[in-house]
Amino acid sequence: MTSPAPNPADAVLKGARVFVGVMGGIAAYKTAALVSKLAQAGADVTVAMTPGATHFVTPLTFQSLSARPVYTSPWEHIESQDPQHIALASRTDLAVVAPCTADGLARLATGRCDDVVTLILAAIDRRTTPVLLAPAMNTVMWEQPANQRNVSQLAADGFAFIGPEDGWQACRHVGKGRMSEPEAILQRIVQILSQRVSSPRAPLPG
Ligand SMILES: Cc1cc2nc3c(=O)[nH]c(=O)nc-3n(C[C@H](O)[C@H](O)[C@H](O)COP(=O)(O)O)c2cc1C
Repeated sequence: MTSPAPNPADAVLKGARVFVGVMGGIAAYKTAALVSKLAQAGADVTVAMTPGATHFVTPLTFQSLSARPVYTSPWEHIESQDPQHIALASRTDLAVVAPCTADGLARLATGRCDDVVTLILAAIDRRTTPVLLAPAMNTVMWEQPANQRNVSQLAADGFAFIGPEDGWQACRHVGKGRMSEPEAILQRIVQILSQRVSSPRAPLPG
């Protein structure tokens, strides 16, 4: 019996420290599949959720899939190193926010960091660590001038984007705003990590 051909994506993802931020959109259920795929490929995945995100998916889902504690508040102490958001940010190879809400885009565009996801992102140096945003929202929300301004600002600030895509939305509307599929986000993560110059990694806390 022959063993399956090695997947080149797995070589890139194995041991990569991927931070996954989850915000309060219905597409949060798809992020469970993304975290599972990352974990299966051997990535060290750490998930943080906004309070809004916990209305859609439980932290236990992500804890089970990532085999790591899930951050849901800046005030909840998970790490032995303090401040924990700095410790986590400094050992991250790539951060992805999926879904990224309209409100989250607005907070990031103005530098706010009053929830655990934006706080960790604020401590990431994008000159060395890529941050990928996967927006998801209703088409009208996506097209709002304020939202488009925020997207342009964030692109100018060095954030990378994937999507949103055209298609069916939970609000029973067909149009632009649907989050990119987990497989597409995974492929983009692999592409970005493949281009990134490798740097030494600090050990993960137990
Ligand atoms: C049922 C429901 C679905 C929602 N879906 C989305 C969504 O897909 N995208 C979005 O930007 N906001 C969505 N919202 C609004 C956000 O949850 C809200 O703006 C919240 O403040 C976002 O907080 P967060 O960015 O901290 O997670 C939804 C709200 C509800 C009640």
